[in-house]
Amino acid sequence: MNELEAISARHSVRQYLEKPIENDVRQKLQAVVDEANREGGLSMQLLFDEPKCFDNLIAHYGSFRNVSNYLAIVGADTPDLDRKAGYYGEKVVLAAQMMGLNSCWVAMSHGKTKARIEKGERLAIVIALGYGATQGRPHKSKPLEKLYSTDLASQDQIPQWFMDGMKAAQLAPTAINQQKFRFTLANGQVSATTGAGPCANIDLGIASYHFEVASGHKVG
Ligand SMILES: Cc1cc2nc3c(=O)[nH]c(=O)nc-3n(C[C@H](O)[C@H](O)[C@H](O)COP(=O)(O)O)c2cc1C
Repeated sequence: MNELEAISARHSVRQYLEKPIENDVRQKLQAVVDEANREGGLSMQLLFDEPKCFDNLIAHYGSFRNVSNYLAIVGADTPDLDRKAGYYGEKVVLAAQMMGLNSCWVAMSHGKTKARIEKGERLAIVIALGYGATQGRPHKSKPLEKLYSTDLASQDQIPQWFMDGMKAAQLAPTAINQQKFRFTLANGQVSATTGAGPCANIDLGIASYHFEVASGHKVG
């Protein structure tokens, strides 16, 4: 499975098997996290065999079961933290999917994490990880045309790479499936913005990562 196939195969999974993640898988995932931390200047932390974070009422009401592993996304508390958290977190999510693991981004339905948070840092979000009881299922989506605009006169002038990027962005997980992000193609350059909503900048980072994987073009 490559990253593009992982984008299609990934769905939120909230119920997990009691199957521990093998040591070699942990090491491979840790290597991805280390590299993403270096690239993004983040201090994302993988926590294995730590069920306490999801062992509370909020997590149970949120229908999470058997979550024993998670990624805590921590970084310097700057205005771009959420967008970076989304971008680099999704890189880890897709790597996990390629290793046979499932995942779910979790803003609300978790308890206290065991992550180290230094002065000046903030926990942006958590991602549950493990072997899913199911593979999840595709989310409902806004129509593609509601998710982008271009400066081109007609639809058939839009380059294929842009549409490929948009289809992958449409598959991105967003908080409460809100899909508030919008991509713009103008003067041959891609940019992305978001409307207001919970975790909207995290969503924007996630969707941008999907777009870049599928299109081979950077989002400015
Ligand atoms: C930033 C973010 C925060 C999320 N927070 C929660 C959460 O607190 N609880 C939960 O059950 N799902 C949470 N989700 C999962 C979304 O509900 C899910 O991604 C969305 O419904 C789309 O479904 P999919 O991931 O299967 O494509 C979150 C997703 C994102 C991207």
